[in-house]
Amino acid sequence: MEYGATLIPGDGIGPEVTEATVRVLEAVCPSIRWERVEAGAGAFEKLGTPLPQSVIDSVKRNRIALKGPLTTPVGKGFSSVNVALRKALELYVSLRPVDNLSGVKTRHDNVDFVVFRENTEGLYAGIEHEPVPGVIESLRVSTEKAWRRFVRYAYEWCRYNGRRRIHLVHKASIMKLSDGLFLEVAREIATDYPYIETNDILVDKLFMDMVLDPTQFDVVIMGNLFGDLVSDLGAGLVGGLGVVPGANIGDNCAIFEAVHGSAPDIAGKGLANPIALLRSGVMMLEHIGERAAAANVDQAIRSVLERGEVRTGDLGGRATTRQITDAIIAELS
Ligand code: NAI
Repeated sequence: MEYGATLIPGDGIGPEVTEATVRVLEAVCPSIRWERVEAGAGAFEKLGTPLPQSVIDSVKRNRIALKGPLTTPVGKGFSSVNVALRKALELYVSLRPVDNLSGVKTRHDNVDFVVFRENTEGLYAGIEHEPVPGVIESLRVSTEKAWRRFVRYAYEWCRYNGRRRIHLVHKASIMKLSDGLFLEVAREIATDYPYIETNDILVDKLFMDMVLDPTQFDVVIMGNLFGDLVSDLGAGLVGGLGVVPGANIGDNCAIFEAVHGSAPDIAGKGLANPIALLRSGVMMLEHIGERAAAANVDQAIRSVLERGEVRTGDLGGRATTRQITDAIIAELS
C-alpha cells in the first residue's frame, strides 16, 4: 500500500532530525511518498509567511505529516506556527508517551505514563489585548465542545490501549469556571468507562508527585498550558527532550512531532538526537497500521540505546546524528 505523507523539516535542528527519521522510515516502509513543504522561520524569510496555505493543504490531502520543530520569536514577531497548524487542522489532541528506555539512566525506573493535552484552546488561544496602557489581558478560552471531543478521545484511547487509570489535571480551585468546566465534562464522560479509574489532581500537586514518584501515573489529561509544561517535565524524567515523541491528532489528520523545539544552540552541528522524532515516526507508522514496521524501528532504537555504545551528547555520548541513525538502521531486522 502506498501512503502520501507531508514532511515539514522545520527550523534549527529540524532538517537534521527529519532527514534522519526519513532515512530510517524509508528502510522499513519504502511505500511512503514524502511531500516536502516549508513552514516556520525559514519559510517566513523566503516566502514572507511562516505558514503558507500550501502546507495546510498538503497535510489535509495526505492526512498524515511528520514535522520538525518550528522556531517562534519570543515577545514579538509572528505567532506560533505550531499553534496555528493545530488550530487550522483541528488537531485537538496532543498525545505524548513518557516511558523509560533501558540503557538511558534516570532517577526513576518503571516510568510509563501518557500525557494528553488539549491542543486548541486555553491560554494558547493567543488572545491578548491591552485595554489601557500598562494592562494586558490574556484570555483562557474554555469551551464545552473542545473539552468534550478531547476527553472522549482520551478515554477511548485508554479503552483501546488497555490503560486503566486517568488523572484529570486542573487548577479548578482558582480557575473555577474554565477548569471547572473541564472537570464537569470529564466526570460525565468517565461514567461511560466504569472500568477506568478516574481521579483528579491539582496541577501543582501533580508536579511534586511526578518528581517524587512518577511511576504512580498512568494517563494524565489536561488543558493546553499545563500539558505543555507536564510534557517537558516528563521528558526530564526519562532522559530529556531528545527521546520523547508526540502526536497531534484530529478527526481528519495527524501531525507527528517530537516534544522538543528547534534547539538553536546545537543546530547545524550534527549533534541533535533524532530519537524523539524517530519515535514520533514510529507513532505515525502505528497510526497508519504499519505495526510490524513500527515495532521494527522501536526495537532497533531500544537495542542501540541498551548497548550504549552509540549515543548522542544529550545522553552522555559522543555520537553524531548521522552515526546514531546509521546504528539504528544497522539494527533493523
Ligand atoms: P528546545 O527544545 O529547542 O531546547 C531546549 C534544550 O534541549 C536545548 O539545550 C537543546 O539543545 C536541547 N535539545 C532539544 N532537542 C534536542 C535533541 N533532539 N537532541 C539534543 N538536544 C536537544 O527548547 P527552546 O530552546 O525553549 O526552544 C527553541 C525554539 O523552539 C523556540 O523558538 C521555541 O518556540 C521552539 N519550540 C518549538 C516546538 C515545536 O515546534 N513543536 C516545541 C518547543 C519549542
